[in-house]
Amino acid sequence: MGLLEDKARARLFYKYLSKVYDRVNPFVWNEEMRAQALDLIDLDGDDRVLDVGCGTGFATEGLLGETEHVYGLDQSPHQLEKAYAKFGKRGAVQFALGDAERLPYRDGAFDAVWSSGSIEYWPDPVAALEECRRVVEPGGPVLIVGPNYPRSTALQKLADAIMLFYDEEEADRMFRAAGFEEFEHHLMGPSYSPEIAITTVAYAPEGETDGDDERAETTA
Ligand SMILES: C[S@@+](CC[C@H](N)C(=O)[O-])C[C@H]1O[C@@H](n2cnc3c(N)ncnc32)[C@H](O)[C@@H]1O
Repeated sequence: MGLLEDKARARLFYKYLSKVYDRVNPFVWNEEMRAQALDLIDLDGDDRVLDVGCGTGFATEGLLGETEHVYGLDQSPHQLEKAYAKFGKRGAVQFALGDAERLPYRDGAFDAVWSSGSIEYWPDPVAALEECRRVVEPGGPVLIVGPNYPRSTALQKLADAIMLFYDEEEADRMFRAAGFEEFEHHLMGPSYSPEIAITTVAYAPEGETDGDDERAETTA
């Protein structure tokens, strides 16, 4: 397991990275990639969408261009402070401080779930993907952007030491283990590295819920 696949360490990391996140982020995850990912799911203006690991709100902003019912959750108070500065703490976006592995929402609460650039920090990605499946309505899309596994052996060693990087085969395994049967992967990236990111769109199986989980929605 990589150094940053630890919630406390990732929180500490983002305490500092949050200060420059919006300036460094475009090198690996930019507006063109965000638009490409948004095109993969068909959002309606009244859809309720959850952004898991919303960070400073880069993807949240893109989602707000599609629907006004956007929820953002992140485990880093420092990242959320940056998001509040853009959107207001209790403005257009319903924010929550929380953990991807234990989402504070009821079953089927959302029409779509989105998460970009966060899965690589989740110590138990399958558990968090199960949570994404639980909170999206049956048949709804769960879109996850993560880092593609590098091809060179040297880079693979470095990547493995830091966080989760994964290829399509590993993505198949994780999404199946999380209970998804229907999903597709798309490689994308900036012009200098067009396959840097792996974006999966998975659909929650129809007609299924995980029981009568009554956890209420919360805000940060
Ligand atoms: C690379 S940033 C991505 C931010 C944003 N989604 C974007 O598209 O720019 C990763 C975010 O995931 C959050 N994160 C990491 N582990 C998390 C967890 N277990 N639960 C919730 N958020 C988490 C971090 O705090 C950080 O804000």
